[in-house]
Amino acid sequence: MNTSKAPELALFPLTAEVNNQGQLVIGGCGVVDLVKEFGTPLYLFDEATLRQKCREFKEEFGKYYPDTLVIYASKAFLNRALALIFKEEGLGLDIVSGGELSIAHSVDFPLDKVYFHGNNKTPEELKLALDLGVGRIVVDNLYELELLNKLTKERGMGQDILLRLTPGVDPHTHQYTTTGTIESKFGFPLATGQAEEAVNQALSASNLNLLGFHFHLGSPVSEIQPYELAMELVLRFAKEMVKKFGFDLHEFDIGGGFAIPYTLDSKVPAIDDFARTLTGKLNSLVSGLGLSRPRLVIEPGRAIVGQAGVALYKVGAIKEIPGIKKYVCVDGGISDNIRPALYGAKYEALVANKASEAEREMVTIAGKLCESGDILVKDINLASVHPGDIIAIPVCGAYSIPMSSNYNAMPRPAIVMVKEGRARLIRRRETYQDLMNLDLI
Ligand code: LLP
Repeated sequence: MNTSKAPELALFPLTAEVNNQGQLVIGGCGVVDLVKEFGTPLYLFDEATLRQKCREFKEEFGKYYPDTLVIYASKAFLNRALALIFKEEGLGLDIVSGGELSIAHSVDFPLDKVYFHGNNKTPEELKLALDLGVGRIVVDNLYELELLNKLTKERGMGQDILLRLTPGVDPHTHQYTTTGTIESKFGFPLATGQAEEAVNQALSASNLNLLGFHFHLGSPVSEIQPYELAMELVLRFAKEMVKKFGFDLHEFDIGGGFAIPYTLDSKVPAIDDFARTLTGKLNSLVSGLGLSRPRLVIEPGRAIVGQAGVALYKVGAIKEIPGIKKYVCVDGGISDNIRPALYGAKYEALVANKASEAEREMVTIAGKLCESGDILVKDINLASVHPGDIIAIPVCGAYSIPMSSNYNAMPRPAIVMVKEGRARLIRRRETYQDLMNLDLI
């Protein structure tokens, strides 16, 4: 195939190219053909990009700090096909629910590499985690600490835990996804003395083995400095706990949140920048404080799946309000990607069947849901669009599908995985019947 790389492809999966008919090709599959076969809206994931990102995190952090465990944050998007890929790539998993745990278990994911997070794990979820043998439970509050100790006692077993600490550091991201500040619903604040109380209680809990601390500042975080500050605060606290209680820090989990570019002008640190700076900071803090070197755990979600995923829509109605706006309406919207409406998230887009057309016009890409806020991309320059054209939105791999809904009784999209010219369905499109399957009259 005679192909060329266009600059607008920078945000698309690593295998993206434009063929000599001006059509977008990903993983060796022409998206026009994919849409013909699987319909729209369609989400596609590029296997090469997914695996490359897993490897980059392992290699970049590992080369500076060999004792690093990369655990993928499942909430960014997990299904069985992805879980299998992460298993093959040797990653661990961050899970936050019995549902995510069940998906991991269904593909025999090594559960000793699973970290169970969450601010209100139910007794049933904790029992399931204990029965299946989850590696770490990241305890968020004293209620959970007591409950977990009781459940482990009843089972006559021990459980390795981390404590989630709230360092009181602002990561400068959207307020809905800020978690490291003192008023957060997550974790034990350092500043109020509750973190120390938690360490004291965890160390005296008969069946729990406190291995270390976790924090997560927020998501996406485009600066490195907030991580450095939080690491310093938590490691100083760890040093105090060593002195007070003779506690040993075996694991230090600095969460996820590593930002990725969504638009062509966005500037965020590369994985290597995060890796070099954060491991450098860890090394200098550990030696400065005289602590023994803990295992470093990182929890990237978005930065692993984001770029691998592309959303494909078909254009229907085009509405021009003269002198005001031109709407290009597509067959999905906030039901499959609520991020623009919820966080004001910005995306780029490309007319996938006219990817090399130079002509441009300013349009707004609107979804088909019954809300004026259902706008996917506001004021973007696109090739001239007509009904039936295909719009491709890059960097849709993280948090679109898992936050999707059946609002307006929209069936959820199909998802395909592409690799070396072959596409396989990894989730079939929901049908109208699916929408009614759980209803009882
Ligand atoms: N670890 C913990 C404890 C987390 O709470 C999160 C994300 C992560 C890791 C992974 O963060 P990531 O590397 O994916 O940025 N729905 C929002 C994002 C919410 C993130 C919640 N926690 C969005 O669409 O931007």
